[in-house]
Amino acid sequence: FGSAGLLIGESLLSSCMNHDMAAMDMTTAPTVVEGAFTTILPIPETITSGTALNARSQNAAIVAGKTGQVLGYKNGILGPTFRVQRGSTVTIPFINGLSEETNIHWHGLLVPAAMDGHPSQMVTAGQSFNYTFKIDQAANMAWYHPHPHEKTGKQVFTGLAGMFIVESPEEKALNLPSDAYELPLVIQDKRLDANGAIMYSPTLEEVMIGYMGETITVNGVSSPFQPVTTRMYRLRVLNGSNGRMYNLALSNGNSFLIIGSDGGLLTAPETVTSLLLAPGERADLLVDFSKIALNSEVYLQSNSFSGVSSQGSQTFKILKFMVNKTETDTFKMPTSLNSITPLSTASATKTRTFDIGVMMDMTSGSHGGTMAMKGMHTINGKIFNMDRIDEIVALNSTEIWEFDNTNGDEPHPMHLHGTFFQVSSRTGGRGNILSHEKGLKDTVLVMPGEKVRIITKFEKVGKFVFHCHNLEHEDDGMMLNFEVK
Ligand code: C2O
Ligand code: CU
Repeated sequence: FGSAGLLIGESLLSSCMNHDMAAMDMTTAPTVVEGAFTTILPIPETITSGTALNARSQNAAIVAGKTGQVLGYKNGILGPTFRVQRGSTVTIPFINGLSEETNIHWHGLLVPAAMDGHPSQMVTAGQSFNYTFKIDQAANMAWYHPHPHEKTGKQVFTGLAGMFIVESPEEKALNLPSDAYELPLVIQDKRLDANGAIMYSPTLEEVMIGYMGETITVNGVSSPFQPVTTRMYRLRVLNGSNGRMYNLALSNGNSFLIIGSDGGLLTAPETVTSLLLAPGERADLLVDFSKIALNSEVYLQSNSFSGVSSQGSQTFKILKFMVNKTETDTFKMPTSLNSITPLSTASATKTRTFDIGVMMDMTSGSHGGTMAMKGMHTINGKIFNMDRIDEIVALNSTEIWEFDNTNGDEPHPMHLHGTFFQVSSRTGGRGNILSHEKGLKDTVLVMPGEKVRIITKFEKVGKFVFHCHNLEHEDDGMMLNFEVK
């Protein structure tokens, strides 16, 4: 932050100390400016084990006709989509072509701690690292992104992220829509300068609410369109945004099916008309375009939503589907998608509670006494310390973790590395377990006023982080270490 930022920061700090957040609550998300929906949806290249990723600066046209500087892992913005089989061993030679440190976290893959991309495991500028791990989990849609402490927000916003799809024979046997009928959709908002380059420079107010942009992109381009035929499509959606949430819906109000979330398929499809997806969360959806007249169009959009003062007031379009061809649909919905054994709360040997509604840590951490602008976001009053182990968990034990945002006024999507969890309860706010939370999750949205309990069995040894996936909150210190041993 510049000196002007520091001045604003000091007055904000005093209002924090008085628990008067009114000044910061006035900041809201930039108004979305929809594009023309005339660029065809790009589908990222599909790769498998052995393909190198090279984080580097390159040029890309987020808005048609404007080529600006972005970051990416291979060609253009973002990275290719991995498609790998459960049980296989994946090797990914990684080159850091940036001028600063970075690394890769495999969000939604149960990899050994040494491969997990912990903020202490950095690849310095110009260096390389070989990520290698066995895929030992159910089929799901994971993703990958950098995890350098205090720089994750900038690197992800500028273009470093990609999808990672795990396949399995069980999933294949379901004959879900595939190939041209399965669309990976990375939804992100961007802030662009006049030349189409990505800008990242959050003000203190934007650290409070998360850095958001006015341009909504899918797979790296603004407001694209996708031709579809009159049949069922599988949309694999990632909210890869820093702070923006999307209340996904179809513009004609039609219902759609949720068949999976972060950790893989649900046991059975859930029919919904909207789905609030927070940063880091994924949704596996089925949309039936046979219900839409030939030669008409329908949009995937974000409906306005309530519960947060900083965002949600606007309904905006994200992606245009043009139904342009009649096709006979051979898809038959399976009666059962997956089997998930519910973890019983009785099997939990410990309950840990985490207060995520407290903003300030005035006694410890990097700002102590210096009024540096860090640590407005805490967990149990603590900001992240790379070397401090905050929670020690016994290997193979089942625990309940409670995230308490009762007194908070910002949404926090809480993410655990190294495990999938089940959502056990939600009290306050939305008050129940939502459709997409009925399967295995690695990120759960805790809205202001909510208390969410998750239950999980810790089966991976080592040191992992858990944190808020609003990347400005994370970079601000809303992250702790836990060690499983
Ligand atoms: Cu996707 Cu620790 O994050
Ligand atoms: Cu947060």
